[in-house]
Amino acid sequence: MVMDETKVLPTAPTKRSGRFRTLLRATLVVVGLLIAAVGGGVFYALAFPPRYPVRDVELRVESSPERVARGKALASTLECVICHSNPATGRLTGRRLAEIPSALSPAAYTANITRDVKTGIGAWSDGELVAFLRTGVNRQGRLAPPWMPRLPRLADEDLFDLLAYLRSDDPAVEATTASPQTGSLSILGKILMRYAWRPMAYPAAPIVAPALSDRVAYGRYVVQAKGSCFGCHSANFMKLDEQQPERSDGYLGGGNEVYDAAGSIVISANLTPDRETGIGRWSEAEFVRAVREGLRPDGTPVRGPMQLYKELSEAEVGAVYAYLQTVPPLHRPRPTTDAPKAITASAEASSDRAATLKGRALYERYGCRSCHGDTGVDIGDLRQADNKYATDAEIEAWIRHPEAFKPGTKMPAFGNVIASDDFPPLIAYVRQLGRRSKP
Ligand code: HEC
Ligand code: HEC
Ligand code: HEC
Repeated sequence: MVMDETKVLPTAPTKRSGRFRTLLRATLVVVGLLIAAVGGGVFYALAFPPRYPVRDVELRVESSPERVARGKALASTLECVICHSNPATGRLTGRRLAEIPSALSPAAYTANITRDVKTGIGAWSDGELVAFLRTGVNRQGRLAPPWMPRLPRLADEDLFDLLAYLRSDDPAVEATTASPQTGSLSILGKILMRYAWRPMAYPAAPIVAPALSDRVAYGRYVVQAKGSCFGCHSANFMKLDEQQPERSDGYLGGGNEVYDAAGSIVISANLTPDRETGIGRWSEAEFVRAVREGLRPDGTPVRGPMQLYKELSEAEVGAVYAYLQTVPPLHRPRPTTDAPKAITASAEASSDRAATLKGRALYERYGCRSCHGDTGVDIGDLRQADNKYATDAEIEAWIRHPEAFKPGTKMPAFGNVIASDDFPPLIAYVRQLGRRSKP
């Protein structure tokens, strides 16, 4: 019995291992082919970034002072200014974008879009600019990464206003040579650029904006095109439906992770009329104040990267409110992890260090960091304050009511937000930032 079994044993495994080997070989060949295919695909993506046909749009935009003024306001609403202005030149010569995840781009830079012919966009034709802004494909046939927004739904007239501004003699776009800094993409970024990110389709027909008197239609136009609110305020940038924005994942229900000037995640708010988690209980006036002045009904500041939409009129923001009332409510509680950080100056630390920690905590709690970043310079440069203002009272006056110093500034007024006791440590911290990295 035992002998029989041992006789059988040596042969059976041999047969089996023969079949096994064949199977193994076949599997290895398949896996090898797969690896080669993936490797080839990755190599292809790294070595050959995609090129797209360049569209030549026959077009010349007639400029007028009114057009330029409207275009300037639009460049602010659509954040061209925030992303492209460089604090060192004070012009739209491009800058490093800290907020792009390094997994996609280890170093993201915006372009010089001043009228400079060599390093800016002075040599571009109107048609080339329109084609680029609509589709994302530039005059060399290269697709810009998706953090450079495209404007497939903006009305033609609004787009022409923008062009007139970029061509104007406004100081911010004055021809300025700045050595071009091209952003880099990570391997993942290059793979997405080759296989996932696509140019936007060029509009098939002229686009006309609705009349402001048609409040719901105009509000929808601001949310989807002129103010581009729906991208940040829907669930996920990767699941936006650019053709039919209403079909985007979690349309206007918030919860999207957006990056502020310091590179920290801020969760976007629910703008649907849900009464618990959205703006269902807000009045129109409260909504207008939050959007134009950056203060919620409870007096807390709305943090960056949500900007102050000062150049949208009350009527325009009111129209947005009217439209939002018609959007299906989504019940989406804000994640508790997003609560503002408590002030944690430890008692054992030396008094200097404790003061710095407290100042830094306040700088974060009141949302200064979301615009000024960790160094004090990003959307706005607060390092100047240490040089400019001899007394702390002057800095306090600026923080309380910046509009009194600089009309039209994008910094909210903190007069009714910051507790009096919090000003001294906060101002000390502002001065410290100024001294740490001189402008
Ligand atoms: C979120 C930041 C961001 C915003 C907002 C933004 N841009 Fe850009 N822009 C970029 C980046 C990044 C690039 C560089 C793209 C690249 O590397 O190809 C760029 C490139 C450009 C270029 C040059 C393209 C080239 O190939 O040289 C133009 C023109 C331009 N932007 C215009 C605008 C206008 C007009 C607006 C407002 C409607 C705007 N941008 C808003 C980030 C931004
Ligand atoms: C760059 C992304 C971005 C864009 C564009 C944007 N928002 Fe926001 N918005 C946010 C973020 C993030 C918050 C949350 C800020 C916070 O938690 O302090 C927010 C908050 C708000 C709030 C406060 C709501 C609340 O419950 O606290 C309102 C109102 C609002 N946004 C309206 C708008 C409107 C209207 C537009 C378009 C004109 C717009 N947003 C465009 C990112 C954005
Ligand atoms: C929504 C964005 C935003 C927020 C939030 C913000 N700031 Fe500013 N701040 C700006 C901008 C933009 C400027 C540049 C002024 C300009 O050019 O309009 C600025 C300028 C300043 C200056 C310099 C003034 C000067 O004369 O040069 C100081 C000081 C300052 N901010 C302090 C603060 C403090 C403190 C906080 C937090 C309590 C804060 N800011 C929050 C946008 C912001």
